Amino acid sequence: MPVEKSLSFDITIYNSLDELKELDKSLMIQSIEARENAYAPYSKFNVGAAVYLENDEVVIGSNQENASYPSGLCAERVAVFQAGARFPGIKIKTIAITAASENYEVATPAAPCGNCRQAIFEYEFRQKEPIKLLLMGEVGQIVQCNSIADILPLGFSSTFLK
Ligand code: THU
Repeated sequence: MPVEKSLSFDITIYNSLDELKELDKSLMIQSIEARENAYAPYSKFNVGAAVYLENDEVVIGSNQENASYPSGLCAERVAVFQAGARFPGIKIKTIAITAASENYEVATPAAPCGNCRQAIFEYEFRQKEPIKLLLMGEVGQIVQCNSIADILPLGFSSTFLK
């Protein structure tokens, strides 16, 4: 007999930056600042990411596009790959992500793309500790997820590669 199961996860919704804890607010502000350095002449969609590490370092990233579209990279991967390269073995605690468009006001919290979810999932799996996500548009509410695995259910990990 097939068994039906439902998966669920908790999020926290903040109405403004001021509702965030001091460290999280500062991280989101650094993500907004990082967004200013996005190179997105094609999509006009600017994304910033700020990664907070257990050694109190912050590593930032922004999306970097390319005339050959697939050669560009999302802000989240620019940031987490840089964190992995600069601080190997140091755990990621939180990633703040923010998005703004030159064409309209983004009022919906940034949604990391599937590739970025998979990339972040690798780090979470490796460190065996959840990575908190703080997602924001240009204005509006901020959504906190407590683990990348929550938004990548049934994720692919190295456990499959024996
Ligand atoms: N983008 C990100 O930087 N992060 C995401 O998770 C979604 C998309 C970028 C990639 C591209 O430069 C632009 O947004 C439009 O897709």
